[in-house]
This record gives sequence, C-alpha cells and structure tokens, in this order.
Amino acid sequence: MRMNVVFVATLVWAAPLAAQQADSLPPGVTAATIADGKKIFAGPGLCSACHGPAAKGVQGLGANLTDKEWLHSDGSYEALVAQITAGVPAGKSSTGVPMPAKGGASLSEAQVRTVAAYVWSLSHAAAR
Ligand code: HEC
Repeated sequence: MRMNVVFVATLVWAAPLAAQQADSLPPGVTAATIADGKKIFAGPGLCSACHGPAAKGVQGLGANLTDKEWLHSDGSYEALVAQITAGVPAGKSSTGVPMPAKGGASLSEAQVRTVAAYVWSLSHAAAR
C-alpha cells in the first residue's frame, strides 16, 4: 500500500512536467511551422538580406535575432508577429536603417506568423 502511494505521487508530480514541455511552443506553432518559417526567412521573406543567413545580424543593418536581447519588443511570439508585421521605423532603429513592414516582402498574415515562429525558436533552444 505504501509503495502505491509513492507511485501515484510520482505520476501526479511528473504529469504536469511532461505537459509543460509539450506546451512550451507558442499556441499554433509546431516543429513543422518553424521549419517552414526558416524557408520563408531565407527565401520570399527577404529577411536574410538584412539579418544574415543565420539570423545573427548584419553590421549596420538588421539586428541579431538569435539572442535574447530584444530592442523593439519583449520577444514573445505574439510580439514578434506584431513587430514583423509593422517593421521598424528609421527613428526607432538603432542603426538608423528602417525595417519595412513585413521586411518589404509581400507576405500573407499566415506567412508572417510562420516566419515569426522561426525567429522565436532561435532564442528558445528547447524548441529546436
Ligand atoms: C531592409 C532590411 C531588413 C529586412 C529585409 C528585414 N529586416 Fe528585420 N530589422 C531591420 C532593421 C534595420 C531592424 C532594427 C534593428 C535595430 O534597431 O538595430 C530590424 C528589426 C527586426 C526585429 C526586431 C529585433 C529586436 O531586437 O527587437 C525582428 C524580429 C525582425 N527585424 C525580423 C525580421 C524578419 C522576420 C524579416 C523578414 C520577414 C525581416 N526582419 C526583414 C532590417 C530588416
């Protein structure tokens, strides 16, 4: 009987942990979303032109997107979606270079959410 109590207690303790790990991706984001976002980043999104192919930033252009330092938002998934949609005006850019809305690319809202998932994953190692 005593063994059973310990066993049940372990299950009760471990279950939320497992759920938390599965929940660590933002709602609606899967590993496939992140992989698709990477393709948009390097391709039709034009992002790599200013942020570099590995998103580590280009001196005097786009910021490093792989660290946890966010200049223009709190770095949460929804904040990144909003920020990529809006771009960065020259007056707010630390380099004085603006980021056009959606990087100047003609991305759909869904494509912006997809590329934002990739950007989010870069500073969340567990997602990769
Ligand atoms: C024409 C160049 C250019 C393109 C193209 C571009 N960006 Fe940017 N991006 C910038 C600049 C400039 C900033 C502001 C950097 C600064 O303030 O130092 C910025 C900032 C950002 C930020 C905010 C970084 C922070 O620290 O808060 C994110 C996220 C971002 N870009 C994502 C993207 C994505 C995703 C794409 C493709 C859809 C993209 N960018 C395309 C130039 C560009």
